[in-house]
Amino acid sequence: MKIARFSRIGFILAAAGSAVGLGNIWKFPYITGEYGGGAFVLVYLITVALIGFSIMIAEMLIGYLGRKDGVTSFENLAPKNKHLWKFGGFQGLAGLFIMIFYSVVIGWIFHYIVTSLSYLPASVAEAEQTFTTMLHTDITTQLFYHTLAFLWITYVLTRGIKGGIEKMNLILMPTLILILSGMFLYSLSLDAFGKAVDFMFTPNWSKLTSEAFVTSVGHAFFTLSLGMGAILTYSASMEKNSNLVKNAFWVVFLDTSIAIVAGLMLFTFLYQYGAGPAKGPGLVFISLPATFYEMGIIGNIFAVLFFVALAFAGLTSSVSLVEPMVQYFIDRFSWSRLKASIYMGLFFYLIGIIALLSNVDDYQKLLTWGGKNFFDWVDYVTAAIMLPLGGLIMAIFVGFVIEKSRVESVLKPQLGKFFEVWYFSLRYITPIAMFIVMLSLLGVL
Ligand code: PHE
Repeated sequence: MKIARFSRIGFILAAAGSAVGLGNIWKFPYITGEYGGGAFVLVYLITVALIGFSIMIAEMLIGYLGRKDGVTSFENLAPKNKHLWKFGGFQGLAGLFIMIFYSVVIGWIFHYIVTSLSYLPASVAEAEQTFTTMLHTDITTQLFYHTLAFLWITYVLTRGIKGGIEKMNLILMPTLILILSGMFLYSLSLDAFGKAVDFMFTPNWSKLTSEAFVTSVGHAFFTLSLGMGAILTYSASMEKNSNLVKNAFWVVFLDTSIAIVAGLMLFTFLYQYGAGPAKGPGLVFISLPATFYEMGIIGNIFAVLFFVALAFAGLTSSVSLVEPMVQYFIDRFSWSRLKASIYMGLFFYLIGIIALLSNVDDYQKLLTWGGKNFFDWVDYVTAAIMLPLGGLIMAIFVGFVIEKSRVESVLKPQLGKFFEVWYFSLRYITPIAMFIVMLSLLGVL
């Protein structure tokens, strides 16, 4: 059987499609707002360059050498204790768990695309009212759009690497870049642009608490899709003789630029039209729609385009969140792609309904434990524990378990004299940093 592989550009767009997601456009701007801008952005950029880039190369290497789903790749590459190391591959489960809430959020975005065509809230208060009414009372709407997200994602997965994942990314990613660039150019023409630049690039060290530091490291992981096998699984379908370092560079570059561009653009709009920067998770669903309202008719167009771009970003990430487990069932249990996609899809869809209901007034009590509802728990456990843990396992696996000669044979020609720097960072800097982050997120530090 001929194995489907990504084309070079297909791989870069698919991996960038995985990385560029709700994390870049929804989460990055609001956490930047919360932690005071410049200093936070600087730490985030340094983390991405030092830790993110290193682990990206390592994760790509596991898939590229392993050539199979995560579990099998770990097993193939471990010189001994294969039965233990294969658990590194079960990180793929984290992707399915993330999908439990990710799909619900994509549902909200779909809903906002439709409503923004004809309606925008006239004030932040009204916007908040609209959003919370949907969140806390409107099961039908949320369920309808969650179902749509499930159908879309599952359909693409059934079509496979080439005809599904690559094809979708080849269309959606350039469209997303085009939309964001257009809106960014417009924001350049507004007076408030300078203010947004100041906010994002002038470091205010007093705001850089240890919590901000940890959040920025954690976010670098989430936004680069590291630690759960999405990049690993895609890399198993990379062309032979690919340059991993170049590929990793492109993915990190695109992901970071899109986050910065989205941030600058949103803060320009928010400054220009009166709403300040620090508005929390509701930023794109509450402050932004009210800001678009102030722009008049062009605001409706912008709102629709913006939510379309956000939906595209979310969808291309979603398929990469589910694909590791799809690939697992295909490789290990010889399931057909159709069967694997539908079962995995149903998993996040059905549990996603519980996450959705946990925000709804009538069910909230039932689905809340220890101050967090089910939706928030899933978010917390995946981002705080599973991804950093996965990153740590991958760094140790490539740094200490796979024979150095094997790692060198692929990466030495590509990294040249930087090989040793990368190897050192992977073995020592990255694990220590990840460990600290995990302890702090768990509240131990
Ligand atoms: N990187 C995606 C985002 O920024 C989320 C993601 C995490 C995707 C982990 C795949 C794996 O939204």
